[in-house]
Amino acid sequence: MSDNRPWPQDGRERMILPQPVGTVGTDLGDRRSEMLAKVDDKHVFMMGDNPALPRMPEKPCLQDFFRYRMNESTYRHLVEAAKRAYDNHEPDKVIMACLLHDITNACLIRMDHGYYGAQLIAPYVEEEVAWAVKYHQSLRYTPDPAYNYEYPELYLKLFGEDYEPSAYIKRDAAYAMQHEWYETSRKVTLYDLYFFEELDEPVTIDFFDDIIARNFRHPEEGLGMDDSPSAHMWRTMIWPNNFL
Ligand SMILES: [Fe+2]
Ligand SMILES: [Fe+2]
Repeated sequence: MSDNRPWPQDGRERMILPQPVGTVGTDLGDRRSEMLAKVDDKHVFMMGDNPALPRMPEKPCLQDFFRYRMNESTYRHLVEAAKRAYDNHEPDKVIMACLLHDITNACLIRMDHGYYGAQLIAPYVEEEVAWAVKYHQSLRYTPDPAYNYEYPELYLKLFGEDYEPSAYIKRDAAYAMQHEWYETSRKVTLYDLYFFEELDEPVTIDFFDDIIARNFRHPEEGLGMDDSPSAHMWRTMIWPNNFL
């Protein structure tokens, strides 16, 4: 499909200031003052579509964020987790929670990704699915012999053997484990295998079209263009380089 929409801010250099949450506390530094000093009739701050990213349709659907915004490893991780759940004949709610559990890691934010992810999808999915996404983060750190689930060996490497999860993680895991929806979230952690453990047969997001159609209420205006409580988060993924 050809797309003749012009690129915004044509004819000028469009400067990208990285979002503060991605640079604060790092050696990437704050370039705001330096870049502000450059603003003139040839230099502006980027607002709107970035030609370095695939262009999103005007009314984006969930699958478009998988196709056009996710890095490859998160895309694969999510579709593979969901496919394992599907192959094990899990109900739609478990498949959906697996498909969406790390959705913000790919193109929004990693810190507290379960909590962000749950808010992002809440207006469009069953409450139990968003709940499972929220609590999978704390349950990941929390063993449960009843489900044969242990603290991930990868975490020992990634965070160090002496890493101790924060109090809110322990509190939320304890809360989740006595909740009636516990199993749905626990199952996410069971299918949440490491990124390098691939399925034999590759799977794409298209495989889940029917399940998504049954379980995700797409807004008529497109994700991010509606007025839901999380529309701004979808817009941030569409235009991650906007100055404001
Ligand atoms: Fe996760
Ligand atoms: Fe994951």
